[in-house]
Amino acid sequence: MKPLSEYSKMKLISFTFCLIITKIQSACVPAFHDLVCENLSDVRNGKSESLVTLTIGNTKKSPIETLSAGTFKKYTNLEELTIISSVNKLEVDAFRNLSKLLVLKLYKNSIAVLPDFAFIVLPQLTKLDLQDNNIQQISTYGPFIYNTIKTVNLSFNKLRDLNWQCFASPGLERLIITNNKIQEIGIEGVLSKDLITLNLDSNEINHLEDDVFQDSQKLEELILSRNRFSTLWTKFKLKSLKKLDFSHNKITTIHESVFDGLPQVEQIYLNDNLLKKLPPQFAKIHLHTVHLHNNRLENLEMIYLNPSFEYELTFSRNPLPCSCLDNWIVFMELRRITTTDCHREFYGNGNNPTCIVIDAEWDSGKCSHSRTEDVDEYVYKFLDMNNNTDADC
Ligand SMILES: *[C@@H]1O[C@H](CO)[C@@H](O)[C@H](O)[C@H]1NC(C)=O
Ligand SMILES: *[C@@H]1O[C@H](CO)[C@@H](O)[C@H](O)[C@H]1NC(C)=O
Ligand SMILES: *[C@@H]1O[C@H](CO)[C@@H](O)[C@H](O)[C@H]1NC(C)=O
Ligand SMILES: *[C@@H]1O[C@H](CO)[C@@H](O)[C@H](O)[C@H]1NC(C)=O
Repeated sequence: MKPLSEYSKMKLISFTFCLIITKIQSACVPAFHDLVCENLSDVRNGKSESLVTLTIGNTKKSPIETLSAGTFKKYTNLEELTIISSVNKLEVDAFRNLSKLLVLKLYKNSIAVLPDFAFIVLPQLTKLDLQDNNIQQISTYGPFIYNTIKTVNLSFNKLRDLNWQCFASPGLERLIITNNKIQEIGIEGVLSKDLITLNLDSNEINHLEDDVFQDSQKLEELILSRNRFSTLWTKFKLKSLKKLDFSHNKITTIHESVFDGLPQVEQIYLNDNLLKKLPPQFAKIHLHTVHLHNNRLENLEMIYLNPSFEYELTFSRNPLPCSCLDNWIVFMELRRITTTDCHREFYGNGNNPTCIVIDAEWDSGKCSHSRTEDVDEYVYKFLDMNNNTDADC
C-alpha cells in the first residue's frame, strides 16, 4: 500500500488531468490507482508525471493504432502500463522515457512484429505480457536480451518454432508460451540459465532432443500438456525439476530412461493419455503427486513401492481389474494416499472408479492377470462404453 497522502495526491492529479483532457474530449478516466484512456491521442494530449499506472484501450475496440516514439514522454514515472486492443504496430523506441516501468501488458493488440531491442529502453522491466497478439517469429538478437525481465508471457500468439537464443538473457525465470503452434524447439543457443518455469501447454510439439534444456539447471516446472507426444524417450537431465506435466497428449509409451535424470521430481501429470504401462523407474522416484486418470493402465503397482510419503494419486477411467480395485482403495486408505478434491467429490457422490471384470490376483499391493487378445478387445469396448462416466477433473 502507498502512504495515503501520496495516493490522494496521485488521485487528485489524475483527476485534474482528467478535467484538462475532458476539454479536448478525452475518455481518460481515473479509476482507483489507475488512469484509463480510450486511445493513444488521449494519452499524447495529456500529461501526468506522477502517474504510476496507466491503462489504454478496451476489449471492444479493434487494434488499429501505431505506438510511436514519444507517446509516453510526459509519463516518466509509470510503473505499470497496460495497452488493450489498441495497437497493431510498435515503433522502435515506442517505450522510451519509461525508465521506471516494471510491468508492461500488451493484450489483444494484433502485434505481428516485435522490433529488435523494443524493450531495451526499459531498464527496470520485470514482467512482459504479450498475450493474444499475432507474433509469428522472434528475431534471434531481438527483444528480450540485455534486460532485467523475469517473466515473459507469449500465450495465444502464432509462434511455430522457438529459438532458445531469443530467451537467453540471464534473469529470465518464467517463460509462458501456451496456445501457439510450436512444433520445433531448436537446441542451438542457450536458454536462460535462470529459468524456473517453462510452460508450453497447447502447442504442437511431438519430440524433444535430450539436451534441449541443458542450460537451464534451475528449471523446476516443465509443462508440455496438450501437445502431440506419442512416445516419450527424451533423457532429461534436470536436477532441479520438481513438476513435469505431459497430460492430454497421446502418449502410449514412456521409455525407461526418461526419469533417470530427474532426481528431484515430485509431481508428475500423465493423465489423459494412452498409457498401458508405467516405466519401472516410476517406483524409484519420490513422488508426491501422480495424476494417471484416463489412460489404459491395468495396473498400479508403483504405488506399492512408495509407502512413506504423503501421496496424491488419481486413477479413475483406467481399465483396472475389479477384483484388484477394491484392494487398491483399501490399500490407499491404509497408506493415506489421497486423491484430488474433484475425484474425491466424484467418489463421494456414489460413483466408482471404473474397472473391468477379468480374473486377477491381488498380492499385497500387486495385481496380476494374464493378458490375452480377448482382454485387449474387452478393454477397448470398455473404454468406449465408459467414455462419459468420469469425473470431469
Ligand atoms: C480518441 O478518443 C476520443 C474520445 O474518447 C475521440 O474523440 C477521438 O476521435 C479518438 N481518436 C482516435 C484517433 O481514435
Ligand atoms: C525522452 O527520451 C528521449 C530519448 O531518449 C530524450 O531525448 C528526451 O529528453 C526524453 N524526454 C523526457 C521528458 O524525459
Ligand atoms: C500468461 O497467459 C496465460 C494465458 O492467457 C494466463 O492464464 C496467465 O495468467 C499469464 N501468466 C502470467 C504470468 O502473466
Ligand atoms: C469418447 O470421447 C472422445 C472425446 O470426448 C471422443 O472423441 C470419442 O469419439 C468418444 N468415443 C465414443 C465411442 O463415444
